[in-house]
Amino acid sequence: MKTSLCLLGVALLLAAGAALAVALRGIPHYAVPAVAARPAPAATPAQLALGGQLVRANCAVCHRNPRTDRLSGAPLVDVFPGLGRLYAPNITQDRRHGIGAWTDAELAAVVRTGIGRDGRFRVIMPHAVHLSDADLQALLAFLRSADPLVQADATPTPAQAPSFLLKILTNTVMKPSPLLPGPRPTPAPAPALAYGRYLVTGRYACFECHSRSHETNQALRPEQSAGYLGGGTAFHDRQGRRVHSANLTGDPDTGLGRWTPAQLAATLRFGQSPHGPTRHPMPVYSAITDEEVRGIYAYLQSVPRLKTTVPK
Ligand code: HEC
Ligand code: HEC
Repeated sequence: MKTSLCLLGVALLLAAGAALAVALRGIPHYAVPAVAARPAPAATPAQLALGGQLVRANCAVCHRNPRTDRLSGAPLVDVFPGLGRLYAPNITQDRRHGIGAWTDAELAAVVRTGIGRDGRFRVIMPHAVHLSDADLQALLAFLRSADPLVQADATPTPAQAPSFLLKILTNTVMKPSPLLPGPRPTPAPAPALAYGRYLVTGRYACFECHSRSHETNQALRPEQSAGYLGGGTAFHDRQGRRVHSANLTGDPDTGLGRWTPAQLAATLRFGQSPHGPTRHPMPVYSAITDEEVRGIYAYLQSVPRLKTTVPK
């Protein structure tokens, strides 16, 4: 009796100690990964068009502030409230409140791994693990460009208020992604299948929204994500209503099996699907090329078909 009480006491003390350590440690810090930074040559118009498309379809979803219409930051609305009050920071060119003073290598490191220039792990933000080097370069070129979306804006970013749960998660399962050994070339537009795989898993990361849930996605091995491309991840539209991502596999009844390439093109380019206008957060890729649509179509029709019932 006495020994078991003693053991219980020790276990309780250890648990309390671990909880205190997590609370004090907060969101962990890591060594900032050294991304090979090549001197950026002057951006070409094609690079800026691609970079703009990547930033609008991805970064802007979280970082765009509707009041300033710049990337001066916004509260995160789509995350589970138990994770705390979180904010996508100001990433305009402002040197104090934005990323004007960050180097390309520091930006590349946070975008690829989630580790900020001060070493603190940046939570929630997706990691562009499979993005090609040239696409990353285009993205950074756009962030440095004269586009109105990224011009310096002095909106301060409120302090993050992560919950105890988020602190536990980031001290256990939520980790930065490793830097994959480079170089990472962009595949050629032909064969369409390999190109499409890159677009769906790397450049546009469609799989991150279109698989079963963010929790079960496998950033390093996308195809091993639960319900890969079968849809079902839950979001909110701009009015706060529930929206679920669609099944993109070739299943003829619940997926895109009966779709034509032209229907996919209209959905991606204009947000007009055969079922009507697509809702937030489905991006509109207004500058997507015919070659890209061809690749995405070929790849989506080739992946294992899943029959899923996604709530309407
Ligand atoms: C799902 C929402 C989301 C998306 C998409 C997203 N971010 Fe973030 N980003 C965040 C959040 C939230 C933080 C802050 C997290 C923290 O402080 O722990 C952040 C932090 C950052 C930071 C660090 C800024 C600072 O001052 O600490 C940079 C730089 C950044 N994001 C750039 C980008 C770029 C570039 C993209 C597009 C490739 C992008 N983000 C896409 C949510 C997002
Ligand atoms: C940020 C998350 C997100 C990303 C990234 C994303 N989607 Fe979507 N997508 C959605 C959501 C949510 C819906 C459902 C919208 C609705 O019901 O109105 C959707 C709808 C669609 C539809 C319409 C299906 C239908 O039956 O009407 C297609 C097709 C589609 N997405 C393809 C893609 C492709 C291809 C990519 C990558 C190039 C992609 N999506 C990237 C979230 C996303």
